[in-house]
Amino acid sequence: MKSTLITNARIINENRNFTGHLLIRGQYIEKIWADTYPPSVAPQTEIINAQGKWLLPGVIDDQVHFREPGLTHKGDLYTEPKAAVAGGVTSFMDMPNTTPSTTTQALLNEKISLAASKSIANFGFFIGATNDNIEELKKTDPRTTCGIKVFMGSSTGNLLVDDPQALDAIFRLRKLPIAVHAEDDTIIKKNLETYRSRYGDDIPMEMHPLIRSTEACFQASSLAVSLAQLHKSRLHLIHLSTAQEISLLGKSARLSQKLITAEVCVHHLWFDDQDYEAKGSLIKWNPAIKRAEDREALIAALLDNHLDIIATDHAPHTLAEKDRPYTLAPSGAPMVQHSLPLMLQFHHQGIIPVERIVEKMCHNPAEIFRIKNRGYIREGYYADLVIVDPNDPWTVNSHNILYKCGWSPLQGTLLKSRVCQTFVNGHLAYDQGQFNESERGMVLEFDR
Ligand code: DOR
Repeated sequence: MKSTLITNARIINENRNFTGHLLIRGQYIEKIWADTYPPSVAPQTEIINAQGKWLLPGVIDDQVHFREPGLTHKGDLYTEPKAAVAGGVTSFMDMPNTTPSTTTQALLNEKISLAASKSIANFGFFIGATNDNIEELKKTDPRTTCGIKVFMGSSTGNLLVDDPQALDAIFRLRKLPIAVHAEDDTIIKKNLETYRSRYGDDIPMEMHPLIRSTEACFQASSLAVSLAQLHKSRLHLIHLSTAQEISLLGKSARLSQKLITAEVCVHHLWFDDQDYEAKGSLIKWNPAIKRAEDREALIAALLDNHLDIIATDHAPHTLAEKDRPYTLAPSGAPMVQHSLPLMLQFHHQGIIPVERIVEKMCHNPAEIFRIKNRGYIREGYYADLVIVDPNDPWTVNSHNILYKCGWSPLQGTLLKSRVCQTFVNGHLAYDQGQFNESERGMVLEFDR
């Protein structure tokens, strides 16, 4: 069985930050030594000297759209996991708005087999809720499915639950976490008509946060929260984008005490509405990027534990699609290769400590979804690990972007930290620009 010893690393895990050494044996973390040098190891052990580098648990991204099946001109389960691993993301949780939408057991199983044959990262899938698939949701296995995804607000694809009775029935199902995209469709449609009558299809991109407005977000998030409170269901609000929605959330570091948890995405922390002028549709997301005040409130809410997870909502579209006028340009952009280095920029700027980034990107997704044996650097856990050089600057450009769509809204951005190596289940899948694709990732298992 293969063994690798990582020596002299700055290990950042469970709110600690210490110099140590770690032995990987097969798929697992066998031993961790803090400070003291490890006793002699077997002669065939491969040794990686991580002096000056950081060792983090692999990132678990709880919201990606890898587009397979059906939308594979944008991304697929081979290309996007590679980009993820190059960015230090070892596990992803994929959303159901593919073509067809993942709304049945058969379609869930098809995705699992596709990923098992193509993905170098570990994977899990959400089942999509519709107005009429409650029987399929009831059949879903909580041990192999991430959760139920509810679009309360339409976005890419045709998954929208707008029937109050269907929503109520979904929230009564308590066996799986419910991940909600919360934007009120009626408010959005009304706003869109107002702007369309003024501008036609070519609405200026900076109107996007006025169409997909704060009110639309707050209205839908409030409804989701009240349904979860009524039925005691495990609600996970995804990609919150406004200061106002934070008032709906509890503030506790003890996740076990939270019925309602919440995610923020890196783009809502990084961009604000001043960026529409330069980036246009490249930063058109649903929910929209909003004001600087919202961005600052989201950062503060991460620090005081109103917000629990940092994810990407990685949502690739082609540049040709993005080039269309406002009403036809799809929302979403790729981010999974850049989320960790981008978040580490906040650390370098003194805004978010690296320990906190690890908590929100690695530990908390594992806790909230109850992922077995991942998300931490612990003996006996899967060796999903990232070695980062905190001081090896690089610029995002068309040569180093690995997304199938070939672009990033971060093009031209200088990032100070670089992912050097990524281990997935003990396998060195990415090593300084090179992939070893001899192993595939595993399906995530949930302890429920
Ligand atoms: O901007 C978005 N794009 N938001 C979503 O929730 C879906 C995503 C997509 O799939 O394109």
